[in-house]
Amino acid sequence: MSGTVLESDRLWLRPLETRDGERIYQLINDFEIVRNLSMVPWPYERYMADEFIIDSEAQARAATAIRRAIIPRSVDRLVGIIDMRFREGRVGIFGYWLGREYWQKGYVSEALGAFVVFAFEELGMNRLGAEALPDNLASLGVMRKNGFTIGDLVPQDRPNFGDTVIMRQMWLERADWEASRR
Ligand SMILES: CC(C)(COP(=O)(O)OP(=O)(O)OC[C@H]1O[C@@H](n2cnc3c(N)ncnc32)[C@H](O)[C@@H]1OP(=O)(O)O)[C@@H](O)C(=O)NCCC(=O)NCCS
Repeated sequence: MSGTVLESDRLWLRPLETRDGERIYQLINDFEIVRNLSMVPWPYERYMADEFIIDSEAQARAATAIRRAIIPRSVDRLVGIIDMRFREGRVGIFGYWLGREYWQKGYVSEALGAFVVFAFEELGMNRLGAEALPDNLASLGVMRKNGFTIGDLVPQDRPNFGDTVIMRQMWLERADWEASRR
């Protein structure tokens, strides 16, 4: 499970590798990306990417989160990351980001679609969710395209910026997903 490579029409989603550190650093060291994320440190330094990769292996072993590099076949290198954190009750919470030059090509909609299938069919999840800033139309669009529906507005502490923001929850229930595929 922890090593599964997911595939979709245009993408591979593979586990992170040690050599990804430099590429992750180059892409994510961008305030326009990090300002939308709660768990990514800012300012971002090179060693943090290596720590993130080591932590990804630990999370996979402990079955607390699954992280995948997003690799478009046509680009053949990492362009971003998607992950799912496990919560009690077979609930999975997604996070994702792409390097800025790869936005608005439908990559994360496609990546999330493949991960949703994996999460329900292979991992047996009951419910999937994600949280986005209410003005993050790109992230809300990604979720909406994959059948997630609007949930509550909830406060979220952001360790990276030392503040609390209001986030929009989005949810996809297993039953609704199954019904949409009939
Ligand atoms: C959020 C993010 C991953 C979206 O990835 P993406 O691959 O560019 O998104 P997609 O191309 O699949 O777009 C999905 C939908 O979102 C909408 N969308 C995308 N970018 C948008 C934008 N800048 N403004 C408004 N809507 C947008 C579109 O409606 C699109 O649907 P369409 O194909 O019908 O036009 C990317 O913008 C990103 O990395 N942002 C910074 C980090 C971040 O916000 N992560 C999510 C935290 S919750």
